[in-house]
Amino acid sequence: MNEITDKLAAEGQLHLLKFADELTESEKEKLFAQIRELDFSILNYDCTESARGKIEPIPALSISESENKKGRYREIGLNAVREGKIGALLLAGGQGSRLGFDKPKGMFNIGVKKELYIFECLINNLLKVSNDAGADIPLFIMTSIQNNEDTIDFLEKHDYFGYNKSSVHFFIQDQLPVVGTDGKFLLAAKDEVLTAPNGNGGWYASLLRSEAYNHLKNSGIEWINVFAVDNVLQQIADPCFIGAVIDSGMSCGSKVVAKSAPEERVGVMCLEDGRPSIIEYYEMSDEILHQLDSNGNLAYKYGVILNYLFNISELDKIVGFELPLHRAFKAVSCLDDYGNVINSDKPNAYKFETLVLDMVKPQKNCLVYEVERCREFAPVKNKVGVDSVDSARELLKLNNIEL
Ligand code: UTP
Repeated sequence: MNEITDKLAAEGQLHLLKFADELTESEKEKLFAQIRELDFSILNYDCTESARGKIEPIPALSISESENKKGRYREIGLNAVREGKIGALLLAGGQGSRLGFDKPKGMFNIGVKKELYIFECLINNLLKVSNDAGADIPLFIMTSIQNNEDTIDFLEKHDYFGYNKSSVHFFIQDQLPVVGTDGKFLLAAKDEVLTAPNGNGGWYASLLRSEAYNHLKNSGIEWINVFAVDNVLQQIADPCFIGAVIDSGMSCGSKVVAKSAPEERVGVMCLEDGRPSIIEYYEMSDEILHQLDSNGNLAYKYGVILNYLFNISELDKIVGFELPLHRAFKAVSCLDDYGNVINSDKPNAYKFETLVLDMVKPQKNCLVYEVERCREFAPVKNKVGVDSVDSARELLKLNNIEL
């Protein structure tokens, strides 16, 4: 107990023991064990975005450029799938706080007249490729401790929407403590410090420590297609994309869409000090936002859609590379000073996250691969408005998907 009290006192976090007297011995032990493992370093982590290097436009393979090579790319991609070189990795550990749905986002029913779940949309898209190739594509699913059980139960209940269950491998991502606006850790319960998933950039580190990694290692997978759960038009293990990346000889690829307007709030691909990188919209000066190329097009026109193809051997080289932590202001449920649970639908605390987009910069190069926005990008982020359930439904209809 002393060791815990001393540690908390030194870190200014003694309030975590506020309700300790009300706890049973085993509850106390649970709380102390968690505190012993807590990463206190995030309290002093400097999250100010570090100064960017020299930003320049990056060459991209536009839709018109790739069009007449599609047949060749597709063949290369389908062969890679048949040879078992391709894996898919679904990032499904997020908490989807903006959508305000209290289950894993993939369980959200986007259907209108019939049930159509987000997981179902994604699996349908992946099935198209595995049927065309005549081969299974191993699917790794990253969950979090908060949503792992619900996710597995749901997919079991729906018989994996027709996907071969033995090709699906789950792993759970790591957690980090959540910090209140006063700089203090929060409690989720009287015997539990509030933690949250540590961001989608933690996927490779978490995968390496999991049992699922054995499947990756023993399967001969050379490339892994990492994608977000919330884009219901997400084309996964797209043979043309895979073929174009392999053909380019580059170590990774990023699907992008042309920005809808210079001010669109999306990260764009660029070169930073000569390496592929992503610059967030809030980091772009007015000059960069509106800069034109020699053809009069936006010089930084390609927004990322969280669909990357990474070469596993290149990832292994950057395992020790420390990704920056970003601080995100989000809505969380936690205990108030009196031990009552408060549920907030407005951002009230800081989560700490690494981001998959920061895994692009350590890569030697990256194929920036443009896809048609209305065919491949329908994110479900918000309840209403931009990138919402309604906008995603409209885009599904446009693509003749029955709702
Ligand atoms: P978002 O950045 O939209 O975060 O995730 P989120 O937590 O799901 O949603 P909000 O911001 O609270 O509304 C983009 C993708 O990264 C995954 C999400 O599941 C989604 O596929 N993700 C995010 C993780 O897998 N783990 C995380 O810790 C965060």
